[in-house]
Amino acid sequence: MCNNIVLIGFMGSGKTTIGRMLANKLNNFLIDTDDIIELNYDIKISDFFQKFGEIKFRELEISLCKWIKTNIKNSVISTGGGMPIIYNMRDMGNVIYLDITFEEIQKRIINDGIQNRPMIKDFKQLHSLYNERIQIYKNMAHYIVNASDSKNNIVDKIYNYLKG
Ligand code: S3P
Repeated sequence: MCNNIVLIGFMGSGKTTIGRMLANKLNNFLIDTDDIIELNYDIKISDFFQKFGEIKFRELEISLCKWIKTNIKNSVISTGGGMPIIYNMRDMGNVIYLDITFEEIQKRIINDGIQNRPMIKDFKQLHSLYNERIQIYKNMAHYIVNASDSKNNIVDKIYNYLKG
């Protein structure tokens, strides 16, 4: 069994930030799937979408999941928001869902801007994407944490779950 800690959740739920803090607390390292793709292909995810399209991106994500499953152990993995739709994340380890309301997502995305988020056309389309995905995230999770809480609380809750 693959014993990684796999953070899943919608865009803007804080997977990378929480993953980094959790990895520090656990004295291990974070693997961020979007970063790995950008590093290996020397391209921003948004440019990858523009140049090669979503289907190619999903194919790449599937091969990355398989690579992680075979090669990575004892690590924290923060995943792209669409990965659980195309791959069973339980294959890679203990799955934690960062649960967040759509209103909160909207606020964060407005603050960050949408220029680097190729899956967003407008907020109406984003809301239906959120509704389509939320049950998939919940069903896949071994543990669900409220991601609107403070960052330290989120990390503590996940840590206690893992140690408990
Ligand atoms: C996507 C989420 C992004 C990135 C890509 C597609 C999605 O990752 O993988 O833009 O389909 O939800 P984040 O969830 O880290 O923003």
